Amino acid sequence: MKDKGIVINVAGAGLSGMSASIELAKKGLHVRLISLQVSERAQSNLAEGGINAALDNMGEDDSPLLHYEDTLKAGLYLADPDMVKGMTDAAPELVMELTKMGMPFHRQDGRIVQRAFGGQRKMRTLYAGSITGKALTQTLINETRKYEAMGLIKRYSNHKVLKPVIRDNKILGLQVRDIYTDDEFILTGPVIVCTGGMNGFFPGLTTGTTANTGSFDAALFASGVEFSNLEFIQYHPTTVSGPGKRLLVTEAARGEGGRLFCYVNQDKHYFMEEKFGDKGNLMPRDVISKTISLLGEQAYLDMTHLPAEKWDYKLSELREEIMHYLNIDIAQEPVCVSPGIHFFMGGIRVDRYHRASKKYLYAAGECACAYHGANRLGGNSLLGAVYGGRIAADTLADDITKINEVDFKAQMTPSSYKEISADEAGANEKISEILINSMRILRNEEILSDGLKSLSDICPNEKVPESELSERVLFAKAVIKSALERKESRGAHVRTDYPDMEEGFGKPSVAAIKDKDVDISFQ
Ligand code: FUM
Repeated sequence: MKDKGIVINVAGAGLSGMSASIELAKKGLHVRLISLQVSERAQSNLAEGGINAALDNMGEDDSPLLHYEDTLKAGLYLADPDMVKGMTDAAPELVMELTKMGMPFHRQDGRIVQRAFGGQRKMRTLYAGSITGKALTQTLINETRKYEAMGLIKRYSNHKVLKPVIRDNKILGLQVRDIYTDDEFILTGPVIVCTGGMNGFFPGLTTGTTANTGSFDAALFASGVEFSNLEFIQYHPTTVSGPGKRLLVTEAARGEGGRLFCYVNQDKHYFMEEKFGDKGNLMPRDVISKTISLLGEQAYLDMTHLPAEKWDYKLSELREEIMHYLNIDIAQEPVCVSPGIHFFMGGIRVDRYHRASKKYLYAAGECACAYHGANRLGGNSLLGAVYGGRIAADTLADDITKINEVDFKAQMTPSSYKEISADEAGANEKISEILINSMRILRNEEILSDGLKSLSDICPNEKVPESELSERVLFAKAVIKSALERKESRGAHVRTDYPDMEEGFGKPSVAAIKDKDVDISFQ
């Protein structure tokens, strides 16, 4: 493929970034794979439970159509059906390709086995023990190396992406800083953003890594890039308190038979089963987290009845992790669990082909609003990351003729960028405090309006974003305002003052900058 010397910038070296880079390199295109941390430390490594694909290996008559229906239904029909169809149809072939690359999916008698996950009618989640994300990341690291050796992918690890360079509605490159030398420079060319979730806005409450600060999302937003569905934040129902963060107790624990209960007057109540029947423990995450919030009692996860075989072959890493951090053997005693922030369904607004709202800017993985609607199915994030990266790469390759006409080198001197200073650290913590308080599972107008007001108090001149702090304030406003404007309850967005789903809101929200302030519309 002719690329006239263009080098494509892929920001983020987790699964979606590597997937996009591999796909571009396969087409003979040159890629810079830019990341603050090496792939081995990307958040993708933390994914535990698995990846969905309707292989129908469990003899249950599964099909991509059922996977498609389950995904749309769990997302409360907010995701683009054509995009979801593309992903669920592609999944079986995609996981077989991953297998050929060396992904060690769990097998029995040579056949890949699939486990039950929440909100899905069939057992369709492939896994590698309870470290599926780590195994998959390693698989793609190995694949990426082939193209690094060919000189098609060049890694820029230890580079912080500071801000996009956008002129006349086009992206021309990224301003980055080498964190070892402190050199700041611009890497020109089109950009695929694969920077993951905005966990750094929610320290202490998230299962993700706060190394994903969310500042690049904020910089994109302040530069005029549109975001969508920011109000939909997934609380995973079973997390435990870990060192400065929440630790995930994988949904696989319930997929393999774990049961949630609470005590009422010292009596044990298996509340999900009482409310939703046999499959109660595997209801979609939004339903379980909301139920736990409404309980007002401490929830526990009971896995003490699971047979030894499950601990030996399927959940051994989970057992070790909880033993290591909490000194509890979950095979012997129940563990206290509560919901923690796990995934952002919203993100950079992309079209069906992963094009963002500026020319030659694309996004994939958790930073993009793509496949999950109002609530994501467990096992669909790894799938969405690998598949979405490929689609973004394919689209960019389709656009290459137009890209070749762009003068990416025009006006390319780094402009000043004020990162958060020691003096501003307190203000930054305050932003997180406000977001954590406002974006709780059960929200209402008063809580959200108070949050917006408190943000304005931190940085009254946020209307002229010029620093990391003011951009973060502006972006936090976009998150809270999206939740304020969606006057209904749908999936992970629960408004106690608007408890029902409203047909009129059956559209994604769009957050944009208008007249230098946050504007929310539904489109
Ligand atoms: O519970 C889990 O293992 C999480 C999986 C996912 O979010 O896809």
